[in-house]
Amino acid sequence: MSEKTFYITTPIYYPSGNLHIGHTYTTVAADTITRFKKLQGYDTYFLTGTDEHGQKIEKVAAEAGVAPQAYVDGIVTGIKNLWDTMNISYDQFIRTTDPEHEKTIQRIFKKLYDQGDIYKSNYEGWYCTPCESFWTESQLVDGNCPDCGRPVEKAAEEAYFFKMSKYADDLMKYIEDNPHFIQPESRKNEMVNNFIKPGLQDLCVSRTSFTWGVPVDFDPGHVVYVWIDALPNYISALGYLNDKPDLMEKYWPADVHLVGKDIIRFHTIYWPIILMALKLPLPKQVYGHGWILLKGGKMSKSVGNVVDPVVLVDKYGVDALRYHVLREMSYGSDGVYNEDLLVSHINSDLANDLGNLLSRTLAMTDKYFGGVIPTQRETEDIDTELIALAEKTPGIVSDYMDKLDFSRALEEIWKLVSRSNKYIDETQPWVLGKSPEKLARLAQVMYNLTESLRIVTVLISAAMPETARKIGEQLNCPADCLSWDSIQKFGGYPEGLKIERCDALFPRIELEKKAEQPVKEAKAEKAKKENDSKTPEELPEGLITIDDFAKVQLRVAEVVACEPHPDADRLLVLQLQVGQEKRQVVSGIAKYYAPADLVGKTVILVANLKPVNLRGLESNGMILAATKGKKLSLVTVDGIPSGGKVS
Ligand code: MSP
Repeated sequence: MSEKTFYITTPIYYPSGNLHIGHTYTTVAADTITRFKKLQGYDTYFLTGTDEHGQKIEKVAAEAGVAPQAYVDGIVTGIKNLWDTMNISYDQFIRTTDPEHEKTIQRIFKKLYDQGDIYKSNYEGWYCTPCESFWTESQLVDGNCPDCGRPVEKAAEEAYFFKMSKYADDLMKYIEDNPHFIQPESRKNEMVNNFIKPGLQDLCVSRTSFTWGVPVDFDPGHVVYVWIDALPNYISALGYLNDKPDLMEKYWPADVHLVGKDIIRFHTIYWPIILMALKLPLPKQVYGHGWILLKGGKMSKSVGNVVDPVVLVDKYGVDALRYHVLREMSYGSDGVYNEDLLVSHINSDLANDLGNLLSRTLAMTDKYFGGVIPTQRETEDIDTELIALAEKTPGIVSDYMDKLDFSRALEEIWKLVSRSNKYIDETQPWVLGKSPEKLARLAQVMYNLTESLRIVTVLISAAMPETARKIGEQLNCPADCLSWDSIQKFGGYPEGLKIERCDALFPRIELEKKAEQPVKEAKAEKAKKENDSKTPEELPEGLITIDDFAKVQLRVAEVVACEPHPDADRLLVLQLQVGQEKRQVVSGIAKYYAPADLVGKTVILVANLKPVNLRGLESNGMILAATKGKKLSLVTVDGIPSGGKVS
């Protein structure tokens, strides 16, 4: 068994309703780093679960007319289904209603009470029911809850308190001595300056005004209150003070608690102090990621604007969504979700860059070598850059993964994808394929491309396991060629294997122009009304209205690369830049143009044509050409940058 261990946790989620894309981000991120560490040979343990107690759950269950336990059971089933859908490979799903967890909580509470860290007193303050938080007068904002802005109620009751201030100096010292404990750095400054330095208040850790919680066994009527029930899930899951298998020695302290920025305070102040009081080591790192926001601000159930990940997976596939959230959320900052961005990631990065690299490589291997990956023959200078990049990428990706900077890690992998696509354009395998004496060189080119793809496959396997599996199958990669060690050096792909071509990995999605939609519909409606009011004889035959013409989207596009279709002599495969977007168009103009002559030309693209598959390659749009007899000339424009409209 490996000596290197890696223990990561997500927050345990409130089962008060369906989880949204924000929760999905945290869990996908934790799954990705776990898979990556496992790939690197770590013995990993990934914990997620649900935080099921509290007044809020008690209230929603009562409103639904069911017992709290039955209520949470139903929701937890849905959450587990969501994680199955998202391909989340957790090792344990902990529930705070698990009897073993409850045992741990009661024993922790008693231990802290016995050693004098918890004491009984009276609580008077302001209570926010939705947030389950007590606030002091000075913490309120305009008399409302400082977290959610909703009204608070005066509350007074007998309660137990935890002496937080007793450990403040030790905590401060720990934070200073362990610069990586709170990440990103900005969150550390916030915690130190806004919370620790002004002085810690004692924390209320029991309640008597509701019953849905872990009972304080030595004082009936009290239930353990929120954070001291929730936070120790990270150790109760490992068998701390309960009868589960003892995994504490192996995995504690945790390597990373991955949490959203809103709960970083609880994880970097209360939790370390609880652990200090229990004389347990502190987690190595608490990482506070940003939030996924919508254009208008936060997602909220009451506003009804939560983005449901299940709907997106149904529509676009699980790996597309995993890729999108990881790529979009840059290190520690907030990200904005919008569906157009997701579609553009699919079309550009997945379909165009990765999908085309695979389909071009496989199609040419098929055409020139009957699908058998050739033996390497000659290396030329032009190969060196690709090989050097392929060899250094795993190390760079690993560094970003260690920092939990998934966006940059993927960006680095995509640099290798783009470099490989550029290598096709530089080496022009279709030209080599015409001369028998260049077959040895062509073999090397095809080998290099396959090998690059293998390295990419291993590198994306943590973020997009399903896609990596599919590519691995198409490349017919044996398992030992998909290991971390095998990608440290270029050349590990065995020669002579036969590839298995399949359907496109990521079919292109037609971008719905949401903002333009109402306008488009209005125009179509107007045209329809005008035409409806005319008799058929009034519309001269063959004529269309301006609205009919407006339906065709014409765009200026620059040809950035072009090659012959591997399976059809008549066709050329053009890579176009259309503003920010990339497109692949397959066109029947091979008789009229050599691929090299087209690169750099600015042509007109029919941009909203339904994509079609032409002899195994996808064509997304059509370029305009003028013809007469045996002559053909592409329609080109000067001085208008790509993306420009033609009307
Ligand atoms: N139950 C507590 C956590 C206890 S951990 C010992 C809780 N639950 S929660 O369900 O409300 O939130 C769980 C996590 O989801 C938090 O880390 C929170 O930051 C995260 N997110 C909630 N909305 C989010 C976004 N819109 N974007 C990203 N993460 C978001 O808090």
